[in-house]
Amino acid sequence: MSELTPVLAADEIHLLVKNMARRISADYIDRELVMIGVLKGAFIFLADLIRQLTIPVTVDFLQACSYGAGTQSCGAVRLVKDIGVDIRSKDVLLVEDIVDSGLTLNWILGHLKSFQPLSVGVCTLIDKRERREAEVPIAYSGHVAEKGFLVGYGLDYAEAYRHLPGLYHLKI
Ligand code: IMP
Ligand code: MG
Repeated sequence: MSELTPVLAADEIHLLVKNMARRISADYIDRELVMIGVLKGAFIFLADLIRQLTIPVTVDFLQACSYGAGTQSCGAVRLVKDIGVDIRSKDVLLVEDIVDSGLTLNWILGHLKSFQPLSVGVCTLIDKRERREAEVPIAYSGHVAEKGFLVGYGLDYAEAYRHLPGLYHLKI
């Protein structure tokens, strides 16, 4: 029996990304939008999302580490790579692959706010609520997952499975 159970097929992801891009394009029309992807998990999602936008956007990345090779957040977040663009007085949309406990996101939001952007919104492909510990404001979410560990479409387990075009539940 396979350890991977399909959750979302590539064409289903394409559709929900397109819908998110439509909403974001409408909400940020005539604004100066900077999208910041959280590495590594969000790189595929962000790449697909920006290509469906109908408004101009600039892109940057940051990388924060909280899990190591395991499956549970330890809460202590370390910044591996910071942003390189100036976000002061700009509208920022943080792009995450998945929000689980919310601890990583909470830390990143605090960090970004220290640069005094005009606004900071959150866009996540998956909102996984079972283990939420920090209240985080999610403006755009593509899919709500109650529990389990998901891989594919950028999401990994110990760096494996990121390349899969669909999203799967991994039996650990
Ligand atoms: P949080 O701090 O618990 O919200 O953890 C968020 C980060 O943990 C995400 O950005 C992912 O990199 C990783 N993560 C949490 N749940 C999963 C999962 O189900 N699959 C893959 N990575 C996950
Ligand atoms: Mg991540």
